[in-house]
Amino acid sequence: MTEATSDIKKGLAGVVVDVTSVSKVNPETNSLLYRGYPVQELAEHCSFEQVAYLLWNGELPTDAELAEFTALERGQRALDDNVKAAIDLLPTESHPMDALRTAVSVIGANDPTAETNTPEANAVKAASLYAKLPAIVAYDQRRRHGLELVPPRDDLGYSANFLFMTFGEEADPVVVDAFDVSMILYAEHSFNASTFTARVITSTLSDLYSAVTGAIGALKGALHGGANEAVMHVFDEIGTADQASAWLDAALAEKRKIMGFGHRVYKNGDSRVPTMLKALERLAEHYGKPEILELYTTLEADMVARKNIKPNLDYPSGPAYNLIGFDTATFTPLFVAARIVGWTAHIAEQLASNALIRPLSEYVGPDERHVPTD
Ligand code: ACO
Repeated sequence: MTEATSDIKKGLAGVVVDVTSVSKVNPETNSLLYRGYPVQELAEHCSFEQVAYLLWNGELPTDAELAEFTALERGQRALDDNVKAAIDLLPTESHPMDALRTAVSVIGANDPTAETNTPEANAVKAASLYAKLPAIVAYDQRRRHGLELVPPRDDLGYSANFLFMTFGEEADPVVVDAFDVSMILYAEHSFNASTFTARVITSTLSDLYSAVTGAIGALKGALHGGANEAVMHVFDEIGTADQASAWLDAALAEKRKIMGFGHRVYKNGDSRVPTMLKALERLAEHYGKPEILELYTTLEADMVARKNIKPNLDYPSGPAYNLIGFDTATFTPLFVAARIVGWTAHIAEQLASNALIRPLSEYVGPDERHVPTD
């Protein structure tokens, strides 16, 4: 065995691998721009539908463009029978991310245009997945409680319909708005692990469904999207705000990573957190649950005091989804429903100027040797 001599960038940290015009993450100014627009402004003034249109087309839609775009989405919301049948075969103990990954794979296998890798064909597939994912996520949560599928309502916007299909009743506008904000904030974040996975798969000229299925696998991990679920386990483990300090001391002594804190790119706080925290505050007030905010602020203050590590988006979104009533294991599929937009924007960008992504490694195994022949 030999030691590496190359300048290894473990985890590709700090490596710029390509250009993108989809979004800009700037840790210096703590800002995130989607096609040039600050994400905070988009969350305040736009719907998730408008943001999806922006990320795919580069510009915000006119009223006429938005009307056409939303009509297309509303027309494709229903859960296909073959996808429902595939989900029904899965044990209710399976992870919802596994169910979602399987469902996307089934949609791909049933799409006769799956192998057509043109920009036009891929735009149609992306729009169809964006429209279909809420029904999959909602139905999967319901079936785990022995509940029937709720068909979509085409008189409701994306987020209102998503909540309707999950809970079987119309959500309060405060809840719809907070959920919509979370979808906007989760929609895109440059070359994160799942987006990069989608770009790697796309770079081989594999199909969009394979790239999205792989991205779902990457997002599932606790260091990435799985952290919003893991944050809720932390909240459940701690219980109440007065237990936070002791819990954190013990967790840090055991060298545990505290879920929902830290970020590979932002070292001075995640640009999306203040907007999501405001949405969480509105939800806590709406549901009359101030104690969840107490725990939130106490753990954050303790973590900053002890390690100077700030929260990422998963920290406020986990308790927000809990207040809305989603099962904890369903939190990361919600992230997928939003990030499908960013992934597919990057798949299009990758294909438009493709180069096979194939980095090098330095071999540090045994020197050349030979199979004994006597
Ligand atoms: N809890 C405790 N310590 C942490 C944490 C954390 N959440 N995050 C970083 N650190 C510490 C590390 O232990 C390390 O300390 P050391 O130098 O003494 O060994 C130092 O900070 C640097 O950490 P790295 O893991 O090397 O930083 P990296 O940039 O690789 O990690 C990551 C980023 C993976 C997100 C990390 O902060 C983490 O594991 N966080 C928890 C999981 C999480 O919340 N993921 C969500 C990411 S954002 C998103 O997907 C929306």
